[in-house]
Amino acid sequence: MNTLLITGGAGFIGSNFLRLLAVERQVRLIVLDALTYAGNLANIQELIDGQKVIFVHRDIRDAEAVKDVFTRYRVDKVVHFAAESHVDRSILGPRAFVETNVNGTLNLLLAAREQWQGNDEGNRFLHVSTDEVYGALSAEDPPFSETTPYAPNSPYSASKAASDHLVRAWYHTYGFPAVITNCSNNYGPWQFPEKLIPLMILNAVEGKQLPVYGDGLQIRDWLHVQDHCEALRIVLERGIDGETYCIGGNNEQPNIRIVETVCDLVDERLVRPQGSARRLIRHVEDRPGHDRRYAIDASKLKAEIGWSPRFDFRTALAEVVDWYLSHDNWVDAIRSGAYLDFYERQYAHRIKGAS
Ligand code: NAD
Ligand code: TYD
Repeated sequence: MNTLLITGGAGFIGSNFLRLLAVERQVRLIVLDALTYAGNLANIQELIDGQKVIFVHRDIRDAEAVKDVFTRYRVDKVVHFAAESHVDRSILGPRAFVETNVNGTLNLLLAAREQWQGNDEGNRFLHVSTDEVYGALSAEDPPFSETTPYAPNSPYSASKAASDHLVRAWYHTYGFPAVITNCSNNYGPWQFPEKLIPLMILNAVEGKQLPVYGDGLQIRDWLHVQDHCEALRIVLERGIDGETYCIGGNNEQPNIRIVETVCDLVDERLVRPQGSARRLIRHVEDRPGHDRRYAIDASKLKAEIGWSPRFDFRTALAEVVDWYLSHDNWVDAIRSGAYLDFYERQYAHRIKGAS
């Protein structure tokens, strides 16, 4: 049986990816996660309880711990999600981004190479990255593609770009079996409410102000997280070593339009007069170095691997609003900080042997 190591599996995209893979019986899933503020075991509690995944509480900044996981579990493939992922936090505290995103990736590459000993038969390292490494587009520019030069503008995107370069170098120098994906902004269930869409949903529900940075005309290409995960699953199986694949939703939207749509969906569901939530919108000071526009040309993935997004944005966004409205316990635990000791309370006694 193949053993797959999922780093950052207790985060937003990693936990959605695990849910997708957990239906496949012929693979052993090991989750390595440090449970930072963004990692939440509640996201994968059912999978751990149902013995679909083995959870290992480790930090990718710890080289010895990472090595130990590779030898102990005889890892065949890696899907590397673990990262500090929030641009605003990277502006306030860039060091953690370099330590986790760059040094942590280095530790994984070193451990994987040592474990696999140049044998790429059945081995693969899928590095999950972002479109933000390509910098910002103007309104007239064509979308980013695999050949767009790197031009990261935030400490977050710079650290992701650095990690992409390391992965690329491992392939070129050592023939290491690596593939890189660069994806646009994801939305969907289980996203930590510091990111635009869940933050706006929860603030609108609670009648709190909705902080839109600058004029709100910055453009992002939004992709449903399950579409992203499906693309990753296919790239993991059928991607070609040394290649990069851009993943996007072909769905460019200015931030203000997203926020207004969220407002209308929340009003509808809470049976409030139309426009109630929109009155909470406040244009606030812009993010420093704020990238104006991201857009992705995913035609390579479509042509070579046959993937295209399935989710309709308006319908899926409404479902995401419903998801946040119906997951009070999850939201409350995050709000109160109670989820931070979730690991100790729920699992320390059960998984001692595994970690
Ligand atoms: P997230 O912040 O929700 O989750 C990150 C996970 O990594 C958490 O579970 C956290 O505990 C874990 N982690 C952080 N530091 C760690 C460390 N030192 N050791 C071990 N685990 C650690 O992030 P996400 O939105 O799920 O993003 C996952 C990956 O996808 C990231 O690499 C990100 O750059 C990339 N990505 C995200 C998006 C997006 O829109 N969210 C888009 C494209 C690419
Ligand atoms: P975010 O979800 O942080 O993703 P990223 O910065 O990685 O694209 O933000 C998406 C967009 O929304 C980005 O242009 C910044 C903007 N934004 C706001 O206007 N207000 C907010 O409170 C947040 C969190 C983001």
